[in-house]
Amino acid sequence: MIGSAQGVRIGITGLGVHVPEKVMTNAELSTIVETSDEWIQERTGIRERRIAAPDEALTDIALPAARAALEDAGVDAADIDLLICATVTPDMMFPTSSALLADELGMPRAAAYDLLAGCTGFVYAIAQGYAMLASGLSRRALVVGGDVLSKILDWEDRSTLVLFGDGAGAVVMEPVDHGGFLGFELGADGSGGEYLWYPGSGSRHFENPDSYVKMNGREVFKFATRIMVHSAHDILDECGKTVDDIDVYIPHQANKRIIDYAVDKLGIPSEKTVVNVDRYGNTSSGSIPLALADARAEGRLQDGTLVLMTGMGAGLTWGSALIEWTNGRPR
Ligand code: ACO
Repeated sequence: MIGSAQGVRIGITGLGVHVPEKVMTNAELSTIVETSDEWIQERTGIRERRIAAPDEALTDIALPAARAALEDAGVDAADIDLLICATVTPDMMFPTSSALLADELGMPRAAAYDLLAGCTGFVYAIAQGYAMLASGLSRRALVVGGDVLSKILDWEDRSTLVLFGDGAGAVVMEPVDHGGFLGFELGADGSGGEYLWYPGSGSRHFENPDSYVKMNGREVFKFATRIMVHSAHDILDECGKTVDDIDVYIPHQANKRIIDYAVDKLGIPSEKTVVNVDRYGNTSSGSIPLALADARAEGRLQDGTLVLMTGMGAGLTWGSALIEWTNGRPR
């Protein structure tokens, strides 16, 4: 699915993030499984990640992110009429984490639902938020992306354990008088689903279910490097832009090698690329908002800055969004 904005300006007017307090370094991981700081850094670029406490669930880390986004936008929770929460690690299947968040935040008029699109969840969710706002169905939306993958990892499987971390982000989306989203490209290919899957987590019966994420790292790597480049080219073409127009590139933070490959193939200068996988690992749906927050903290998101975000993940899914950043008040 691909499309560009047809004269309706919808932007991000508030941004907030939150990560658990506990920092887990590669050295600490190497006391749990047979691995080393050297191996992890060389193959992934990750130095450390945040890990949720035993009693910390998705909404516990999403709530502070959501509050920060609302405060940043200067918006009352009660004025939000749509809350989408992108996650593969909700507190439970139902009630949805979005319904729990809407209640905690005080959003009695908000429609609220969870969205499941693997690590691409945040990009899917902002596309949905855009569509709801552009159609006039919603007037002000809160989109949350976050995961606590540490809860569903096999802590004896070094091939997945070292890659992931926990974190969440949230954005307020509403009509703006200039800038805003230019377009989206979203896709899915279930034929590669078993390269990154979580068998036994739903209604399908498995003979020997175990409740952990399983991954074929090499196949996901091949998919990721191909799709990061394709999706970026597709959305740029759709919106009549070129790689040279991009001011800030925010790739999903899965692995520094995947990011380096995409940057090289696309020809995007590395100084335009946001990388924080070294500090957070792969936080799934939290990855892109966390990177957006870093970019902003570094003063890289100015009025008119053209930002390309591309995510990919379980499904297999992928998605890109192109936005002209808007600072200042909404319309
Ligand atoms: N520490 C030490 N050795 C390890 C570790 C580890 N943590 N994990 C695997 N190894 C070993 C393997 O057992 C293998 O040993 P062998 O040669 O004796 O069999 C060796 O290292 C090489 O393993 P490979 O799998 O070939 O290593 P590769 O260079 O492919 O790197 C990696 C593995 C990092 C997982 C890579 O394939 C990758 O990044 N894939 C993409 C993963 C990803 O991005 N997933 C999530 C994206 S989607 C989403 O965001 C949900």
